[in-house]
Amino acid sequence: MKCSDRISLLPRLMLLNAMKITKRHKILEVGCGEGNTSVLFAMITKCNVVGIDIDKRVIEKAKQMKRKLGIKNVIFRHFSGERMPFKDNTFDAVILPFVLHHVAKRQTEPLIEECVRVCKKDGKIGVIEWGVMKDKRKHHKQVMLPKMLKALFREYNITPLKYERVDPAYYTVGRVKK
Ligand SMILES: C[S@@+](CC[C@H](N)C(=O)[O-])C[C@H]1O[C@@H](n2cnc3c(N)ncnc32)[C@H](O)[C@@H]1O
Repeated sequence: MKCSDRISLLPRLMLLNAMKITKRHKILEVGCGEGNTSVLFAMITKCNVVGIDIDKRVIEKAKQMKRKLGIKNVIFRHFSGERMPFKDNTFDAVILPFVLHHVAKRQTEPLIEECVRVCKKDGKIGVIEWGVMKDKRKHHKQVMLPKMLKALFREYNITPLKYERVDPAYYTVGRVKK
């Protein structure tokens, strides 16, 4: 199963709804891939979205889609989530849809720490994960179970606000306490 399949649309829409994003918000998507979720959030809410990804090729594809659709309120950049060139407290929300299973275990904590750094105090962090090993691809580095994410949220002082299963995925939203 690929994250671009239709089955992943529902958790994306549910995350969007649960995060209560409005036009005034500035959102960061870490691991935006070809830009599907960034574009969805930008088009539905009219908020400003920055999508970043460690893979240059997918960022080129995301930029192509942006051009095709003529959307102005989303930008795509080639950056790694572990070291982002944004100032502290820049974003109202940071989302990681279907990203953490692509991240090696030892890189997960630095990535979450960096997401918290660039997110404003009382801003939100939103995650979507499969929670089960869907298939054994080389780029799938770990299974991010809900209890593991819960522990990460606790470690980085992110207060859980919402958790919901959307089989075969789940999403969760937390508030950043600084
Ligand atoms: C399955 S895709 C997610 C696509 C996108 N979030 C969506 O909802 O359509 C996972 C993406 O995470 C990216 N990624 C993995 N580790 C990353 C990191 N450390 N920093 C930034 N992007 C990363 C991969 O390059 C890949 O494009």
